[in-house]
Amino acid sequence: MSRVVVTGGAGRLGRSVVTALAEAGHEVVSIDRGSLEGMPATQLSVDLLDLDAAAAAFAEIRPDAVVHLAAIAVPGALPDPDIYRINTQLVWSVLQAALASGATKMLLASSPTVMGYGSPSGWEPQYLPLDEKHPTAPWNGYGASKVAMEQIVQMAVRQHGHRTRFGAFRPCYVIAPEEWAGAPTQQGHTVAERIANPELSAVALFNYVDARDAGEFVDAWIRKADDVPNGSTFFVGAPDALYDGDTADGIRQYLPAAAGAADQLSGTQSVFSSDNAEQLLGWRAKRLWRDELVREGVTA
Ligand SMILES: NC(=O)c1ccc[n+]([C@@H]2O[C@H](COP(=O)([O-])OP(=O)(O)OC[C@H]3O[C@@H](n4cnc5c(N)ncnc54)[C@H](O)[C@@H]3O)[C@@H](O)[C@H]2O)c1
Repeated sequence: MSRVVVTGGAGRLGRSVVTALAEAGHEVVSIDRGSLEGMPATQLSVDLLDLDAAAAAFAEIRPDAVVHLAAIAVPGALPDPDIYRINTQLVWSVLQAALASGATKMLLASSPTVMGYGSPSGWEPQYLPLDEKHPTAPWNGYGASKVAMEQIVQMAVRQHGHRTRFGAFRPCYVIAPEEWAGAPTQQGHTVAERIANPELSAVALFNYVDARDAGEFVDAWIRKADDVPNGSTFFVGAPDALYDGDTADGIRQYLPAAAGAADQLSGTQSVFSSDNAEQLLGWRAKRLWRDELVREGVTA
């Protein structure tokens, strides 16, 4: 059992990460500006942009591992310069506080948006499915902040890797458990609406992951971080696409610029490969939208 700090533990993804880690037997402390009732964790209300407050909180907790989720999580929620500044400042603040407190493992949430899909100038993958070796091409302040974060992770490995394990993960579009039954997803639509209107999901290449699966990924990383290359990056997504048909057909119809690589996908396969997580950590998403989605009271 480890003592784990989850920053942003009260968020859409954080709630499920906290729950998965507690269920796996970790002692969990959520540090967030907000708090939630009924969380299986100690909750501290701290503005992590405040360096002194962050350092004091971490010094008191002395965590073994830190999972950094706190961020402005929606592209366009603030002007690009603000998202970039806030997200990178949060990374520095939490990194410094975590290292000073003696934490020996630190996992940070990046995003698949580092790939650059949705760019107004057009976007074409070099190949599909996308994996961690595919070049990044961020086109907005949010994606740029996540590329910067991944670079800071590599920097931290060079500077502190002799005593601390680092990792970055790129969770696909996170579906929290209540969203299968109709609660609004991050972009405001329900999952059923995203299936019924593929254009809503096509912009993010039909990607998704159940938040509980993402929580289990975090536990797998904490348990195995000593055994995988330091600074590893992982896509964390469901093995299928959030599209009611063959993925290649969905790409040809809704993302014609990427159609050249569509033939490289088979059946309902995800556009994103999570093979790295499966091979290095033994993690694979278990919850698929066809099983989880509740349509008019009936599971899909
Ligand atoms: N939701 C997704 O689909 C998705 C996809 C890819 C990556 N991510 C990343 O995963 C992480 C979590 O995303 P989410 O969807 O849970 O976001 P969220 O907005 O629901 O949660 C983020 C949490 O961080 C907290 N926070 C923000 N600024 C803070 C500060 N200064 N001090 C303390 N707490 C602060 C917020 O209060 C919130 O509870 C983010 O880093 C996001 O970029 C999310």
